[in-house]
Amino acid sequence: MIIRDETAADVAAIGALTAEAFATMPYSDGSEPAIIARLRAAGALTFSLVAEEAGEVIGHVAFSPVSVSGEGEDGGWYGLGPISVQPARQRSGIGSALVRAGLARLQAIGARGCVLAGDPGYYGRFGFACDPAFTSPGIPHEYFMRVVFSPVYAGGTVTYHPAFFG
Ligand SMILES: CC(C)(COP(=O)(O)OP(=O)(O)OC[C@H]1O[C@@H](n2cnc3c(N)ncnc32)[C@H](O)[C@@H]1OP(=O)(O)O)[C@@H](O)C(=O)NCCC(=O)NCCS
Repeated sequence: MIIRDETAADVAAIGALTAEAFATMPYSDGSEPAIIARLRAAGALTFSLVAEEAGEVIGHVAFSPVSVSGEGEDGGWYGLGPISVQPARQRSGIGSALVRAGLARLQAIGARGCVLAGDPGYYGRFGFACDPAFTSPGIPHEYFMRVVFSPVYAGGTVTYHPAFFG
């Protein structure tokens, strides 16, 4: 398996993979493929990584900029997601490899931190933690997590790119 940036040739496979992975998730409204497409169309995919094996896209993760109200206008904060692994290939380390590659890439571009909505039982292993300093409207606090690379931060209300809202 290799992890690499998406190319134009991956777009359809990413959409299909994302739809398949989220299809049975009770917390999904089915909008994840459209979110990725809108981020891409808006030029707001900071980067988009695919896991490829034998020429097939078996996993994907998107990163996009978020604003954090207490952090000023300088940017440097990103959201992780959507993330998907082909159902038949889940629980074999592909999701972990995508998260770790993405966080390494964020640090390489000088990111100050990253947020996501997800299960702390899974994302805690990558350094994500719930933090009352970071909130996002509509996301229960026990599922909203951040990892911080910056030594000094204030947190605040996190706003995702409009692509997340249709
Ligand atoms: C979440 C997802 C990307 C993880 O990818 P993956 O390749 O299956 O994950 P990994 O193999 O790296 O990690 C598997 C480990 O995570 C755990 N895990 C996977 N999903 C989990 C979840 N939602 N909550 C808690 N633990 C989870 C597994 O139990 C396993 O734990 P172990 O290593 O202690 O045995 C994948 O399950 C997926 O595509 N899910 C459907 C789409 C989705 O829900 N995306 C995330 C929304 S926040």
